[in-house]
Amino acid sequence: MKVVLTYGTFDLFHYGHLLLLERAKLFGDKLIVGLSTDEFNSGKGKKSFHSFEQRRKNLEAIRFVDLVIPENTWEQKIQDVLSHNVDIFIMGDDWEGKFDFLKEFCEVMYLPRTPDISSSLIKTLENK
Ligand code: CTP
Repeated sequence: MKVVLTYGTFDLFHYGHLLLLERAKLFGDKLIVGLSTDEFNSGKGKKSFHSFEQRRKNLEAIRFVDLVIPENTWEQKIQDVLSHNVDIFIMGDDWEGKFDFLKEFCEVMYLPRTPDISSSLIKTLENK
């Protein structure tokens, strides 16, 4: 069984998120999403519109997603890859090269982002 792992905030769940998850799942049998916690986001100076529990509920309703785990720190990735027997680590290409240190432990892939949509854009539009 091939295990795929990806991370993100997935706030204001949108079509770009859906396509990323759909394409990630095509590379394996099980897709795990590391979902940033509210504490982790606030440490980065970010605040999501939806809480961790709301964002988790959205993700768990997506049929490509098999498991959601919390992302609490930048450093946990190697441990997550090892403890979940991850074969492929996948992120959108806005992260190109940033997680190449994981190549020692699994395959690392960056998929093209879906153009013209992001959580930040939705927030901007909502504020208009
Ligand atoms: N993603 C994507 N296409 C988009 C937006 C996001 O493929 N249009 C991918 C990202 O590359 C990442 C995952 O979806 O692998 C989660 O991204 P996240 O940062 O949570 O979403 P964004 O919409 O990019 O949020 P923000 O605007 O806050 O950066």
